[in-house]
Amino acid sequence: MTPLAVTDPPASFDVEAFLGAERGRVNAALSALASSRVEGAPTVLREAMQYALATPGKRLRPALCITAYRLLRPGPAPDAVYRLSCVVEIIHTYSLVHDDLPCMDDDELRRGRPTVHVVFDPGTAVLAGAALIPAAVRVLDDAARELGLDAPARGRMIGELCRAGAAQGMVGGQWLDLIGEQPGATVDADGLERIHRLKTGALLAVSLRMGAMAAGADEARLEALTAYGNELGLAFQIVDDVLDVTRTAEELGKTAGKDVDAGKATYPSLFGLQRAREMAVERTGHAVDALRAVDIHSPELEALAAYVLERGR
Ligand code: IPE
Ligand code: IPE
Ligand code: MG
Ligand code: MG
Ligand code: MG
Repeated sequence: MTPLAVTDPPASFDVEAFLGAERGRVNAALSALASSRVEGAPTVLREAMQYALATPGKRLRPALCITAYRLLRPGPAPDAVYRLSCVVEIIHTYSLVHDDLPCMDDDELRRGRPTVHVVFDPGTAVLAGAALIPAAVRVLDDAARELGLDAPARGRMIGELCRAGAAQGMVGGQWLDLIGEQPGATVDADGLERIHRLKTGALLAVSLRMGAMAAGADEARLEALTAYGNELGLAFQIVDDVLDVTRTAEELGKTAGKDVDAGKATYPSLFGLQRAREMAVERTGHAVDALRAVDIHSPELEALAAYVLERGR
């Protein structure tokens, strides 16, 4: 297998600049989709969907999708890849709209702005979130078609997206997370790892798979990117739990200290802050090892793994 590197690696890779540049193109694609894909919808529902999509997220999942694509097809990615990268971001956005609802985490702040159910109302937030799911599937089918994928290949990608967001994926993890907070519930280390893999890892991994599949990746590389995504997802959620106890709402753009208040099982609550941080480092090490095992040497993916550990929000 030929070794893979995204581009000629600069001596020191500026991950913030890289993410910032990708975020600009992703936001432009997302904004265009947010206008075109809601035509004919009732006005308030449309506004709630557009509000959710326009809030300033890090856009990590799109960056993973685009990077995986460019790993196989080096050089500037066409606009359709940016539209493809919005697919998981749209699903992620719906998951956040629902995660913040009063019947779930009951949060009023997200990405530095009031949550959708606060600006609109809980019913509208539920339905705007639900409406983002078929919107994402349509964006996927269209973007994959533009990239030349035939109907069976597009069907396979849609199946993958649905599995990642399903009861065996993100939604299942969110449910386990929710019932783990009930009085008398106990979550042990294995249970917590399962929750984190499902609620967060599944969507990170499928972001990479979408990009790689669109570029025609072989099984070995797809599997390596999946392993990287799963490990990165675990590290990402461990860090999210750490940030919840170490940062302010102003720094995070979302309520801080929420997990302790909710009595949620988290890596810091089970293992302590120090050990939780070490475990996140171990996971990103495993993530990069999974790539190198199949000769993928990607400065971007390695820098994104480091970014997941160092991020402040
Ligand atoms: C927040 O995800 C939810 C988790 C899975 C922890 P992000 O931290 O990626 O949120 P945004 O998209 O940047 O707001
Ligand atoms: C949510 O985890 C992960 C999702 C699948 C939405 P959290 O509940 O910890 O995410 P934040 O901290 O609200 O972003
Ligand atoms: Mg939650
Ligand atoms: Mg939450
Ligand atoms: Mg959190």
